[in-house]
Amino acid sequence: MQGRLSPAIEGEELDSSRSAVLVTGGAGFIGSNFVLRRMSERQTSVIVLDKLTYAGNLENLSSVAQDERCRFVRGDIMDGALVRRLLDEHRPQAVLHFAAESHVDRSILGPEEFIRTNIEGTFHLLEAVRGYWLKLTAQEQAAFRFLHVSTDEVYGSLSPTDPAFTEETPYAPNSPYSASKASSDHLVRAYHHTYGLPVLTTNCSNNYGPRQFPEKLIPLMMLNALKGLSLPVYGDGLNVRDWLYVDDHCDGIQTVLDRGIPGQTYNIGGRQEMTNLELVRQVCAILDELKPTQKSYADLITFVKDRPGHDRRYAMDISKIERELGWKPRETFVGGLRKTIEWYLNNLEWVEHVTSGAYRDWIHLQYTSTNPAGTVQL
Ligand code: NAD
Ligand code: TYD
Repeated sequence: MQGRLSPAIEGEELDSSRSAVLVTGGAGFIGSNFVLRRMSERQTSVIVLDKLTYAGNLENLSSVAQDERCRFVRGDIMDGALVRRLLDEHRPQAVLHFAAESHVDRSILGPEEFIRTNIEGTFHLLEAVRGYWLKLTAQEQAAFRFLHVSTDEVYGSLSPTDPAFTEETPYAPNSPYSASKASSDHLVRAYHHTYGLPVLTTNCSNNYGPRQFPEKLIPLMMLNALKGLSLPVYGDGLNVRDWLYVDDHCDGIQTVLDRGIPGQTYNIGGRQEMTNLELVRQVCAILDELKPTQKSYADLITFVKDRPGHDRRYAMDISKIERELGWKPRETFVGGLRKTIEWYLNNLEWVEHVTSGAYRDWIHLQYTSTNPAGTVQL
């Protein structure tokens, strides 16, 4: 199915002086933040290919809906014929691959879609891109990039005293999600090693910011709190994550695209390690200030059954991207968290739209049936 955001007509040439990029998963959380940022900063055209799963939402791109440089195509990265057609038609200078199933808890309850999209989907996408790349002139081939967006979770779990993950840390993925992402990273690597495709891979820590689907920790906690529902913290709440504001991640991806060396991987992170409990308390403290009630929102914190195989700690050593490409995170955690919470408070209609019936079913499955201690009502 072909949907369009812009008035541009399918098949009509986009202005070739503004070379295009193809963005998969551009209607999701990070992909949409990337598209909006890129379009505000550069003249280039963007073709978004997105299947619009429960996590993809065209409303995320509404601010560029009338911009003729943006074209939206609803489709699956598994669909090689569609991807080949888009590549031949728009002749992008880069493909940025965000599309994935991205939620660990969903991968535990139903891994199959993760294998399909994250592994098979990436394979079919790589095949289509390789065919396109082979037809380019030598100069175009040298300028072309395939940038694969991946995660720190491929490296496994750290103890509290372990040094942070570097690009040399051996892969040890623990969940079906991280195993599927690790597999896709290996495929991307192999396409460089075997076929010479100019690929770049970024491995990033936990993101937060506007437009994140409310199943993820920060939006889930703040939206539950606003409804007076319990705040379900898994296990003892002492698992540590390294948080990065989404805009900094998008800037890191753009930096790697502009200056990264083909075949290399780059860790991206925020140097903001924190336990889940600490983080949830910070969310509550900001809400206490912005939306005060008689009691503190922190009173709603409830410890629930732990996630199976729950990774204890992630931490990223980002010295390579800092040293070689001059990128570093700009946003402080306190500043980024406040901006994020304010965005959700100002966009409750967006929340209403994305939390459809299917999402309610998921919440019931995750927090009620399998996790009676963490009952959350809707
Ligand atoms: P998301 O779940 O919000 O968005 C994923 C998007 O991909 C959605 O728009 C969805 O419709 C689309 N999609 C899913 N399957 C598809 C398919 N088969 N064909 C085409 N489109 C499909 O995810 P996100 O949080 O924006 O993550 C984007 C990427 O960044 C993922 O690859 C993820 O692994 C990686 N990543 C995420 C984080 C994080 O904290 N969210 C951290 C590091 C890396
Ligand atoms: P999540 O946002 O799912 O990201 P990831 O698992 O990819 O790191 O979860 C972040 C952390 O928060 C993780 O340690 C699991 C924990 N968590 C809870 O304690 N309760 C919840 O309801 C959710 C969704 C996550």
